[in-house]
Amino acid sequence: MARRKQVYEGKAKVLFEGPEPGTLVQYFKDDATAFNNKKKGTITGKGVLNNRISEYLMTKLEEIGIPTHFVRRLNMREQLVKEVEIIPVEVVVRNIAAGSISKRFAIPEGTRLPRSIIEYYYKSDQLDDPMVSEEHITGFGWAAIHEIDEMLNMSLRINDYLAGLFLGIGIRLVDFKVEFGRLFHENGDVQVVLADELSPDNMRLWDSKTNEKMDKDRFRRDLGQIEEAYQEVARRLGILPESGPTDPKGPSTLQ
Ligand code: TMP
Ligand code: ASP
Repeated sequence: MARRKQVYEGKAKVLFEGPEPGTLVQYFKDDATAFNNKKKGTITGKGVLNNRISEYLMTKLEEIGIPTHFVRRLNMREQLVKEVEIIPVEVVVRNIAAGSISKRFAIPEGTRLPRSIIEYYYKSDQLDDPMVSEEHITGFGWAAIHEIDEMLNMSLRINDYLAGLFLGIGIRLVDFKVEFGRLFHENGDVQVVLADELSPDNMRLWDSKTNEKMDKDRFRRDLGQIEEAYQEVARRLGILPESGPTDPKGPSTLQ
């Protein structure tokens, strides 16, 4: 197969030119970083698991009407996606206090928030992803007000759907981060769609019974058993690589 041209390399993924114009191949690496690249490591098998988990969750979200960049999974580490212009705003949704919100407001980790809280961060490694308000986003031209509305509405729907899906397999969705992109249609329409990935790299997932962490906090906090945790998430979703790409098994619901 001809070598594909690399378009972009991020911390956890590489983007290559896709087979047709308007498509990209998203390759999932085993590299892990935290605290904006200050901590680096490799989690063997992470790329394979995140490729599967992201495929599964994006497909489910498409089914409930959330537009995404996802087209199809190509192999163990790659998926075909639609080329979008990434909006440089990370949207974080929080249901339970953990991580930076716990630190910022001295709220013990594990405290249920009175309602889901949305935060925006400007996507910039150089600036360490500073938290921003809608005023910054519109004022600096990163997104228009109607795009912020769409990102907010989609993020809340994603939260409702994923919180329920994970609860059904004994996992609490503590918080997560999503990114959106602009999809340019041939007729001139511009559509805001979910992009990037949805995996334990950008969510906090706690076992409902034991509160055990099943996400990248195991790496950030040196808790060990990182791959095992990601594998357990995939297993409960019914999508371990061993089950094969056409396995009809859905999530294995806990009683
Ligand atoms: P935080 O508590 O560190 O602000 O993280 C909130 C959520 O967002 C958590 O699920 C991890 C995720 N996240 C990313 O995916 N990328 C990032 O760069 C940061 C800071 C957080
Ligand atoms: N994703 C960010 C980094 O790679 C921060 C984090 O996830 O903790 O540095």
